[in-house]
Amino acid sequence: MQNNTFSGLFVGQNIISLKTIDSTNNYLRDELSKSAPLPEGTVIMAEAQTAGRGQLTNTWHSEPGKNLTFSLLLRPGFINPADQFILNKCISVALNEVLQRILGNKAAIKWPNDIYFGSGKLGGMLIENIIRGSQWKYAIIGIGLNVNQEAFPDSLRNATSIAKILQSNYDLTILLSEICSHIEGWYLRLKSGHREEISRRYREKLYRLNEPHRYRVMKTGEEFTGTITNVTDEGILQLDHEGAQKDYSLKEIEFLNV
Ligand code: BTN
Repeated sequence: MQNNTFSGLFVGQNIISLKTIDSTNNYLRDELSKSAPLPEGTVIMAEAQTAGRGQLTNTWHSEPGKNLTFSLLLRPGFINPADQFILNKCISVALNEVLQRILGNKAAIKWPNDIYFGSGKLGGMLIENIIRGSQWKYAIIGIGLNVNQEAFPDSLRNATSIAKILQSNYDLTILLSEICSHIEGWYLRLKSGHREEISRRYREKLYRLNEPHRYRVMKTGEEFTGTITNVTDEGILQLDHEGAQKDYSLKEIEFLNV
């Protein structure tokens, strides 16, 4: 679908809308293995996913037609793959900016991949990279955002949505166009070297920043009270625990809700 709703330069200029697919990330990856290259900024969106994927081995639940489930193609060849977490920060900042405009200041970024409002999960990102040698060829940015779904399975106790918060529905096409335009703006800033600004914005909007909360170390099961102080550009979560700094990578620590 070529469209006139989307005003940017490249993000969302080429949109492929599907009714049902296993996963938009899988679809985009399969397309990339074909000979005709897709333009950077292509968005694959689906009304329903039969095997939507979340982080690790999680599945992504979304009521068909109610939410945004889409994958965006970027070619971040200008970033050293060793610095790949900066793209996560960039997309998180862009999504947060959109949600802050719609929902206000309680919109937050939860390390490492979640989109939050207060202590509720509004959505998440699954970024999958294709790296050849030392060259970052493609990033597949999968985004699931709860928009007009009001009821969630019991297993998703902290899930929330824009409609639950605002008590009114939000137009999915307008929201997608806002997201595309903000991602484009922040991605172009990243491209022109504004990493510090991105990291600063990311830290400012970080869920639980400077607040003491309970955490569990996954390997040992140890629980402790710590205070998030920062996330490095390598994606390491830094917490203060009784005056000492503790560093955790992905899958090393769990946030507790007590
Ligand atoms: C998470 O919170 O665990 C990440 C969820 C990412 C879900 C999106 S929906 C669109 C894209 N396609 C997928 O299969 N997953 C991502």
